[in-house]
Amino acid sequence: MKRKIIALIILIFSLGVFVACDGSEATTTEQSIEDIVAGLNNPYNIGLFITEEPETSMGINFEMPEETTAYVVYKAVSDESYKSVRATDKTRLIDDRTHYLFEADMTGLEPGLTYEYYVRDEAKEHVGDKHRFTMPSDPGESFTFMYLADPQETSEIGYMAYGYHIMYATEEADTDYDFVMFPGDIINEAHIATQWNLFYKYSSVFSYNTPLVATTGNHDGNGFDEERINSLEFDGYMNLPSNGPAYESFDELDGDLRQPDFSDGKTFSFDYGNAHFTVVNSEMYCDGTTACAGYDETNADILNDWIEQDLSNHDKPWQIVLLHRGPYTLSYNNRTVRDNLVPILDEYGVDLLINGHDHHYSRAVYLAGEMIDFSRSDNYLRGDLSLIEEGELHFNDYSEDVGVTYLTGNTSGTKYYAGSKSSGIEVNYSYPGENPVIPFITVTDDSISVVSYVVLKESRFAIQAESVEILETFEITKE
Ligand SMILES: [Fe+2]
Repeated sequence: MKRKIIALIILIFSLGVFVACDGSEATTTEQSIEDIVAGLNNPYNIGLFITEEPETSMGINFEMPEETTAYVVYKAVSDESYKSVRATDKTRLIDDRTHYLFEADMTGLEPGLTYEYYVRDEAKEHVGDKHRFTMPSDPGESFTFMYLADPQETSEIGYMAYGYHIMYATEEADTDYDFVMFPGDIINEAHIATQWNLFYKYSSVFSYNTPLVATTGNHDGNGFDEERINSLEFDGYMNLPSNGPAYESFDELDGDLRQPDFSDGKTFSFDYGNAHFTVVNSEMYCDGTTACAGYDETNADILNDWIEQDLSNHDKPWQIVLLHRGPYTLSYNNRTVRDNLVPILDEYGVDLLINGHDHHYSRAVYLAGEMIDFSRSDNYLRGDLSLIEEGELHFNDYSEDVGVTYLTGNTSGTKYYAGSKSSGIEVNYSYPGENPVIPFITVTDDSISVVSYVVLKESRFAIQAESVEILETFEITKE
């Protein structure tokens, strides 16, 4: 049935027919084809976001077409009356045009309840459609998130392909997911508003109903000698927790224009179910060998101290780290990330590190700088496995004690590096194909299970998929 819906959406796009949002239609979490196509119009760039208290609140970010006071209006579906919360005004100049961006948190939400919400301006001249989300009922038992690596598109055809990749993968996975995770490089050029508009337009296959978690990549910000390094764009279009480190002045490099608060909303942490998530702005470690900000040792140390404090001050059995530049990846050799982070990850027993930037799907397990030599694996039809010999340590099912798992996405969009760059870093498994891979990650009290789907297509920008297959599955367990 879903395959038919996707085919019909493709037909609608090919005919150039779009359903306009008139501000009155309600959509639900069980979307009809009209809802999905209307959703792809996302006129207010609406996205839901994770908060520091994701089991009782929901963040939202949106854009109004003109200067106003804006509100988010919401209620439990079962309630009679709406509450409204005045949104925080984040108006800023992007692309030489003023953008009226807003954020708010919907609070006091109850587990398992479905909520209805919409956004509006002061005069009610701009009133968004009603959308719904459902709060997690018992994430401590089990929860799932979808991982979307670096869309980083520039054009509508690229983001359209991204939207369809998500639809194909979610159709095949056929599972509910509680939030969506991005390791950065959401757009290609942060200061181009059109790219953010396209990101929200095609992310609306989930963004009205499911919160988003993200950190910044090198494409979401700018060089340290540009005023935009303070990331007005990322902050404007995202509503993420600001419980990260307090930096000192950035004065170790000539022309460094970073302000101490430039990284707010890019490094933060939150608890969800049985997991503690630490989200790190890895641009802080960049040493200038690739396009990035310069390395400020004092503030990198502050970030390291914050991560250590964060990992030692929670009571969750699982620890998952998200960042853009990974320590063990095939395309880029991120030495300063590795030097700063790996000793901390080992010391605090982080279970899973998820990163992007590399555009070449890979997985490796390392401990104390040494890659673990797995001796058994399931059969892999696609991709390359290394170091598999006779023995008992199974690459698809192993204990958290074995080491830290480093999972690198390729892309949820259309840009691939496999074969075009080489870091010299070893990994246990890699998939060099130029097809998007979308993992679904499920956390229970005794396991982290990952199922990665590959959307096989004839060409990068093809909308129609040939097939969707499981690329690999693996499970990290507690003894
Ligand atoms: Fe990147």
